[in-house]
Amino acid sequence: MDGVDGLVRTVGVHLSEGEADALLGWLARRLGRSKALARGDGPLDRLEHVFAHWMDDAQRAHLEEWLARRIALGDSPVPAARPRWHPSGVLVPALRTPLCDLLGIRIPVLLAGMANGPTTPELVGAVSRAGGLGTFGVAGMSLEGVRAAVRRAAEIAGGAPVGVNVLVPPPLAADGDPERVRAVLAPLRRDLGLPEDPPPGAGPPPPPSELVAAGLEAGARVVSVGLGDPSPLVPLARAAGAPVVAMAATVEEAVRWAAAGADVVVAQGAEAGGHRSTAEVAPDGSVPLVGTMALVRQVVRRVDVPVVAAGGIMDGAGIAAALALGAQGAQLGTRFLVAREAGVPASWRTALRTARDTDPVIIRSVSGRPARGIRNRLTEALDDAAPGLGWPRQAAATGDLRRAAAEQDRGEMMALWAGQAAALAGDDQPAAEIVDALVAETRAEIARLAALLRG
Ligand SMILES: Cc1cc2nc3c(=O)[nH]c(=O)nc-3n(C[C@H](O)[C@H](O)[C@H](O)COP(=O)(O)O)c2cc1C
Repeated sequence: MDGVDGLVRTVGVHLSEGEADALLGWLARRLGRSKALARGDGPLDRLEHVFAHWMDDAQRAHLEEWLARRIALGDSPVPAARPRWHPSGVLVPALRTPLCDLLGIRIPVLLAGMANGPTTPELVGAVSRAGGLGTFGVAGMSLEGVRAAVRRAAEIAGGAPVGVNVLVPPPLAADGDPERVRAVLAPLRRDLGLPEDPPPGAGPPPPPSELVAAGLEAGARVVSVGLGDPSPLVPLARAAGAPVVAMAATVEEAVRWAAAGADVVVAQGAEAGGHRSTAEVAPDGSVPLVGTMALVRQVVRRVDVPVVAAGGIMDGAGIAAALALGAQGAQLGTRFLVAREAGVPASWRTALRTARDTDPVIIRSVSGRPARGIRNRLTEALDDAAPGLGWPRQAAATGDLRRAAAEQDRGEMMALWAGQAAALAGDDQPAAEIVDALVAETRAEIARLAALLRG
């Protein structure tokens, strides 16, 4: 019952009887109840009944903060006809940029699509429901799997939009020896109880266009594209009225993707966990590594579409910094790996929390494309078979092993993708709490910075 007394005090001190009655009517409507059922003699008593019996702690805390802010700003404490209201009925303080209107979201925080496990329907749905954009990493899934997962995420989101993310990298040649790769993986396979050779695949995975079509059919409302040129997917997204969010790791790619029809560009700095989102991989495996701060600022100056910052952003201070650089939002991957709903085994979560800033490094051997993650027994074994088989052959050669390692929670043989700020991940937490905390921290950081002007 936290917050009842505080709210009663705030209302008693700052609201006239007429305003208290208007607030009562507004709250009753938002909570789907009849105002007539609120018990008490006058509006203040009846509001106390609503605070105590119809609202939970989180709703009371949000209302208290919202009222305090409006009173401090000299606004009417009675909410306007169309307040910002969380789909689940929780009032969330505002943090808006024009990107929010473009994507149909309430707060400019994007969950990165993270294929092969982390982005579960529960995680995606919870982030969207909390006001951000939950994005599903659907690369490598079956079409039926995509439809079922997106439907479930959209259901949890309760009407808020969810996105689908696909990967469109060009193939990457490498002249490693398949027998050598097989030999270095053999002891690990034995250790996991796997047969000597991966089972024959069920044919190539569905192409990105089919994955996107399946996602849109199941209710996705945003299309996100990583690791290459989004243009082949633009007509499909346009036909469904879905904005295209394209990832870029260089200014040149950001300009190209915007010209190709991307509605939003994500500037992915070198700090980012997971694959480097670029088509520009040199034959020796090296990739552009421009830091988030340098990249975001330059991309903002060069493209006309909204820019979202990604890479190393873990809290409100990071989001405030991204907004200061001119980004209209932030995309976070590593931060959400410790969400309760994320499909991330315990050993991976521990590896994140205990990582030093220098531990997440660029690793090419696991998938055949450069990605940032934490080294382990798997990467060390694969080093002995360098340069490996390239993309996507190397990813296929390690795929069932990585899946088995995740099922058995054997961090030493998983792909431990992680950004450079992994150690800021914190404890396991429900995704909605992470989103709420990000908003509160960002607002607090902005207020702290604004206060510097007063001194
Ligand atoms: C575990 C993991 C998986 C990822 N998978 C994808 C993916 O499937 N598609 C994609 O576009 N980006 C993927 N990324 C990269 C993110 O889009 C994003 O750029 C990155 O997470 C931002 O940096 P941060 O991890 O420091 O927040 C992945 C990142 C991580 C950490």
